Amino acid sequence: MNLLLLGSGGREHALAWKIAQSPRVERLFIAPGNAGTASVGQNIALKADDFEGIRRFVLNEGVDMVVVGPEDPLVKGIYDFFRDDEMLKDIPVIGPSKAGAQLEGSKDFAKGFMQRHHIPTAAYQTFDGTTVEEGCAFLATLQPPYVLKADGLCAGKGVLILPTLEEAQRELREMLGGMFGQASARVVIEEFLSGIECSVFVLTDGKDYKILPEAKDYKRIGEGDTGLNTGGMGSVSPVPFANETWMKKVEDRIIRPTVEGLAAEGLDYKGFIFFGLINCDGDPKVIEYNCRMGDPETETVMLRIKSDLVELLEGVAEGNLAERSIVIDERAAVCVMLVSGGYPGHYEKGFPITGINEVQGSVVFHAGTALNAEGQVVTAGGRVIAVSSYGQNKEEALQKSFAEAQKIAFDGKYFRRDIGKDL
Ligand code: AMP
Ligand code: GLY
Repeated sequence: MNLLLLGSGGREHALAWKIAQSPRVERLFIAPGNAGTASVGQNIALKADDFEGIRRFVLNEGVDMVVVGPEDPLVKGIYDFFRDDEMLKDIPVIGPSKAGAQLEGSKDFAKGFMQRHHIPTAAYQTFDGTTVEEGCAFLATLQPPYVLKADGLCAGKGVLILPTLEEAQRELREMLGGMFGQASARVVIEEFLSGIECSVFVLTDGKDYKILPEAKDYKRIGEGDTGLNTGGMGSVSPVPFANETWMKKVEDRIIRPTVEGLAAEGLDYKGFIFFGLINCDGDPKVIEYNCRMGDPETETVMLRIKSDLVELLEGVAEGNLAERSIVIDERAAVCVMLVSGGYPGHYEKGFPITGINEVQGSVVFHAGTALNAEGQVVTAGGRVIAVSSYGQNKEEALQKSFAEAQKIAFDGKYFRRDIGKDL
């Protein structure tokens, strides 16, 4: 079959790499893709949220399935766009409906959903422009640090964790005053939870689900989890504390109630669910839901799926996922992200990247790369390249990624050397 994957990051290169291994795939298109996806499929110059352009392309090229990488097109309703179009309605979109994508698109919706289905998460209240003073008063009843979340999508920047009441109240006023535009017209204030985080993923057809390998990502720019937040500096799978006992709690208390809750509320959901969890003294709680795979978790999770991913995606599309099986690789996988100097602050783009072809023991996933006019791979983003490796354990895998990362060179290259060391 012909498959169109939407997106352009490391997550999409990893998905494309896995999808391209399937004998069921004849042609794989990636829109818009990056220099890496061009090596496993054909890049198409279309933005992931250009619905009309995607429609024309899908019909002209005989695309049989659309897989959505990022949240944006989902929250904007690409699933519904296909479902409601006479010509497109039989072409499955892997990803939830606009209503289902609210799990990520609205923090307030997600919190309400968890409350309705008794899914463990931090206590919270939501405020808007008419209840600013009530919000400030609510903050005064909480213990520091204070967690403020813009309700809508903010490209990963909508969560503030403030050490003092004064700062929290000031930031709340700013958020409700339009700091993130419409996205912060409502703000969720929630209890701070402490523990180690873990990302759990499922693929669901709306009735049944398959649990994919879990992973931990590293968000801060600096070693020892210091400095500014980034789009992700690396990831590790499996996560040692996510053992059978813990994962059983996750499945019983979080995964099953979520999938059943979506169905009970009539929310069409055929795609990936990302559970951002935190381990609170042995009990998992939900920090956030995302309606897509994680980045850079996908760059390790895809390595650990032995089964044909496309066969599972067909199960999602056909609603018979229960009849299919998923086989997980016992080995560990890690990913180390090479980023541009200065990221996540100001950085330059367009530096030539050398050494990619010398990498042998690892899989290289492109994140922010492009081909310049001479056909040379150059830096085109903050997070540039993910070096992913297998190992008998994470130490062995990390050693490989760090060694291979040395072979790749570009001006200003930086990476964290402590990925996985905290586990
Ligand atoms: P989110 O965008 O909801 O994933 O939040 C970004 C990050 O903020 C999370 O990955 C956590 O590290 C942190 N965070 C969010 N909510 C909480 C909370 N209630 N308690 C502690 N940390 C949190
Ligand atoms: N790694 C976190 C995310 O993809 O949102």
